[in-house]
Amino acid sequence: MRNNEAILILDFGGQYSQLIARRVRDLNVFCEIRPYRTSAEDIASCGYRGIIFSGGPETVSDEKAPKCDPGIFKLGIPVLGICYGAQLMAYELGGDVKSADIREYGKTEVDFHTYSKLFRDMSDRSVCWMSHTVYISAVPKGFRITATSKTCPTAAMENEELKLYATQFHPEVQHTECGTQLLKNFLFSICACSGDWKMDSFVTTTVKALKDQIGDKKVICALSGGVDSSVAAVLVHQAAGKNLTCIFVDHGLLRKDEGDEVEKIFRKQFDINLIRVNAKDRFLSKLAGVTEPERKRKIIGEEFIRVFEEEAKKIGHVDYLCQGTIYPDVVESGSGDAATIKSHHNVGGLPDDIGFTGLVEPLRDLFKDEVRKVGTQLGIPDNLVWRQPFPGPGLAIRIMGEVTSEKLEILQEADAVFRDEIANSGLSRTINQYFAVLTGIKSVGVMGDGRTYDNTIALRGVTTSDFMTADWARIPYDVLAKISDRIVNEVRNVNRVVYDITSKPPATIEWE
Ligand code: XMP
Repeated sequence: MRNNEAILILDFGGQYSQLIARRVRDLNVFCEIRPYRTSAEDIASCGYRGIIFSGGPETVSDEKAPKCDPGIFKLGIPVLGICYGAQLMAYELGGDVKSADIREYGKTEVDFHTYSKLFRDMSDRSVCWMSHTVYISAVPKGFRITATSKTCPTAAMENEELKLYATQFHPEVQHTECGTQLLKNFLFSICACSGDWKMDSFVTTTVKALKDQIGDKKVICALSGGVDSSVAAVLVHQAAGKNLTCIFVDHGLLRKDEGDEVEKIFRKQFDINLIRVNAKDRFLSKLAGVTEPERKRKIIGEEFIRVFEEEAKKIGHVDYLCQGTIYPDVVESGSGDAATIKSHHNVGGLPDDIGFTGLVEPLRDLFKDEVRKVGTQLGIPDNLVWRQPFPGPGLAIRIMGEVTSEKLEILQEADAVFRDEIANSGLSRTINQYFAVLTGIKSVGVMGDGRTYDNTIALRGVTTSDFMTADWARIPYDVLAKISDRIVNEVRNVNRVVYDITSKPPATIEWE
């Protein structure tokens, strides 16, 4: 994957480290993320063109706060410190930081001194995304302030001679209007990158790395029929061939008819060993009486692995388990230093006594849209590559409270109507994820001459590019009306349909 023009992202545990990596890759510059402890010597030996310090949740003046090797500042390699990374640069080089009384959070107007190389071709005032309580109160000797905002005296600083740059705001976030230009300036003017790295190198280099990792060992892949596990399976198949066996655990929590579709696609279109396990009853009995969302996830995650282990035993010795884990799963499960939001079953819920030598997770660094690009490059058909994401725990986290067979059937039917009408209206590519939720609320209705007391279905539709943040989809009223009509008429035990109009944050996309 590496070419001779690489950027290093030094990770201080911020939520956005991968987002920085992704923006850099979008600008066709290869980059890698390494922990903040990486030594200056190690960094020097890798020949990076530039270094970006990520943000992080700590306060730099705390004793336990993550610090980098101070030798990094003397390497002569350009450094861009972002948020915590900016504060660290100031603090370590003799400047000072202070805690403000109020956290500065959200969109802020910033004034730029456009003589700075970092701000070339930008206007002298634009909106940036801030998220901090600590600010740089005194810049180190030899530095100058290059941007300010009303509440932040040092929105940016630099020492051009030492090639050290820092921004208190986050250029990697879409809300920072000039963010892409700023990163371009850093990569191309300051670090002198040429921008000739392409995503297709990912396939070649990943398949090669997988071959090295797997050798002639046996791999089992957790195939769910979703984009992530499908792309992971095809990638691993290229490296392991017949040594790969895909196990499709049908936990009964899939969308209507999905189990059969997955089986058809993989048997017909790919020459991949596939075992389908019908385990609905087993999962439902484990979930009986369980209402707490995190417990549901853990149970499903563990049961998943147990089923794999059983199948693995039938196959004989198996060394690796391949999973379609992607970056948002990793960051939202609190892996590394980022804060935990939800434990996604394919990361957080893995039992400790897992019976395989290791995990193969070829998509661990990618965002969803990057996974789709890889899928297309691998020749996976559009209908699979563009399938909307579906969570590992399936409909169990879209049924509030206990999961039962009856509730599953109601939800599957309602969801099928929703998907059918979205397809009919030609909106399926513009809404990134849409599904029905069985809310657990019963309400009074009237049907014919009779009173009903029945279930409420919520519809959720979101637009997003990375699933880390999302807006609710503005589905036209007439489409919503048709969906609602059809659901209450066609799905038994439903008498009310509502539409979820909450963005993420503060809500998440799934309801549990
Ligand atoms: P949230 O609800 O966290 O969802 O905003 C973000 C994206 O992740 C999917 N999701 C999951 N995927 N295992 C998965 O593989 C999980 O446990 C899980 N939970 C949420 C969700 O569907 C959305 O696309």
